[in-house]
Amino acid sequence: MQTIIHLSDLHVGRDKGVFGRVKLIFEEIAAAYPDVPVLITGDLTDSASKPQFRTTRELLDGLAQTNPILAVPGNHDYAWKGIVAKFRPDAWKNWIKYLGSPLGWGRSEVPWLEKGHTPAGFDGLGIWEHENTVFFGVDSGDPKDKAKTSCGFISDTLASALSRELVKRSDKTRIVFLHHHPFVHSTNLKLYGGEIFKKAVSGNCELLLFGHKHDYGLWRNRNAIPLTIASHRTTKLISGDCVAFTVIRYDDTVGSIMQPKQWLEVVQLAGG
Ligand SMILES: [Fe+2]
Repeated sequence: MQTIIHLSDLHVGRDKGVFGRVKLIFEEIAAAYPDVPVLITGDLTDSASKPQFRTTRELLDGLAQTNPILAVPGNHDYAWKGIVAKFRPDAWKNWIKYLGSPLGWGRSEVPWLEKGHTPAGFDGLGIWEHENTVFFGVDSGDPKDKAKTSCGFISDTLASALSRELVKRSDKTRIVFLHHHPFVHSTNLKLYGGEIFKKAVSGNCELLLFGHKHDYGLWRNRNAIPLTIASHRTTKLISGDCVAFTVIRYDDTVGSIMQPKQWLEVVQLAGG
């Protein structure tokens, strides 16, 4: 059996309590789940400022001592408060500088949005293989298009590349993760290119993970995908003094049917 951890929407810098909560969650993961890959589906920072990216990187460096970390950017990593890109013209460059590498995998730091870096043959798609599992990190932001920053954007080219790479690895357990929520229809959250994205992943992966809406959601066999999870905001307090993160366990034996199980691990804040 394999285990992974799904975090989302940390929003470092949002308020004073977030730093301590992230630190606590990371310490808990390091102690209870060493070596388990940690996937973070965007909005690591709250407003994409350099100090917020620096702080986030420091926190991630701590966790990277024990766990592989894979992160994709969210709209709050590309724009002030996730909506005003003009206040953060360098946000996506800061992402690349501080976070845009497959952290913790023991590789040289490679900014995956940078021109020329094409691990999957296309910018915006990061692929990492780990035993019988393949992780597909999708950058669903469009840092150069202010109108699409908040809603997210999947281009035809990105969707085709994703589809092609997924099909190539149909003998593996395929986990696709992105920030934006492909199932919402409201004007300010609807993912541009959501339909072509869903077509690309439909029946083509075993696990789909995202965040953005801050509402927990879980679907089985939707779009012919065994399990889809939308994470809540991981740093949100629940029951007054607790936070929680998602743990997923599955069988990745080649040729077998994947049997994913998931649960929320609850961590109580000190003094609670
Ligand atoms: Fe968020």
